[in-house]
Amino acid sequence: MTLQEAIVARHSVRQYIDRPIEADKTARLQQAVAEANEAAGLHLQLVTGEPRAFAGGMAKYGKFSGISNYLALVARKGLDEQVGYHGELIVLLAQTLGLNSCWVGLTFSKQPSSYCIAPGEKLYGVISLGYGLNQGVPHPHKPIEGFYTASGEVPQWFRDGMEAALLAPTAMNMQKFGFELLPDGSVRAHTRFSLIGTYLRIDLGIAKCHFELGAGKGNVRWAD
Ligand SMILES: Cc1cc2nc3c(=O)[nH]c(=O)nc-3n(C[C@H](O)[C@H](O)[C@H](O)COP(=O)(O)O)c2cc1C
Repeated sequence: MTLQEAIVARHSVRQYIDRPIEADKTARLQQAVAEANEAAGLHLQLVTGEPRAFAGGMAKYGKFSGISNYLALVARKGLDEQVGYHGELIVLLAQTLGLNSCWVGLTFSKQPSSYCIAPGEKLYGVISLGYGLNQGVPHPHKPIEGFYTASGEVPQWFRDGMEAALLAPTAMNMQKFGFELLPDGSVRAHTRFSLIGTYLRIDLGIAKCHFELGAGKGNVRWAD
């Protein structure tokens, strides 16, 4: 499965079976985590064999079960977009390895002894990882037209990028992002107004990750 195929196959999965992630897959994930941390100065950490974060009432509220592996999204404050972008690359890698995932901002309980948060850093949330009880379901798919502006003809790569962006997970499926194709061919991505603004920039990073993969990285020059 390619990362592009993973974009289509991925849906949030909240219930997992009791099957450990094999050592070779764990190693692939660890390597991707190290690369993300190196590339963007993040402090993401893979936590395995830790069932407590999803054992309490919050998890029940979010309908989570069977989770003992997750990615702790630790980074310095203000790196929301990078957390989104690189976290989603790991989500998509996990999908290619036959694993399921779910971004979780709220419905888990923090386990500070299971990961390291250095001074100036914070935990943005976690991403559950493992073998799902099911493969999840597609979220409501809106047409791309309401999500971009462009002057002149819109090339196919841009449309492909938009289709991929609309398959991105966003907090509460809000999809509060937009893209602009500028006259010089560069692309600008922005958040849109929302009363619940907490995850907007993480969502934007996730959407940009999908856009790049859908459009083909060589086609995308970011304006900012
Ligand atoms: C930043 C972020 C935070 C999220 N937090 C939660 C959460 O706390 N609980 C939950 O059940 N789902 C959470 N989700 C999952 C979204 O509800 C889900 O991505 C969205 O409904 C779209 O569905 P899909 O991922 O299946 O495409 C979160 C997603 C993102 C991107």
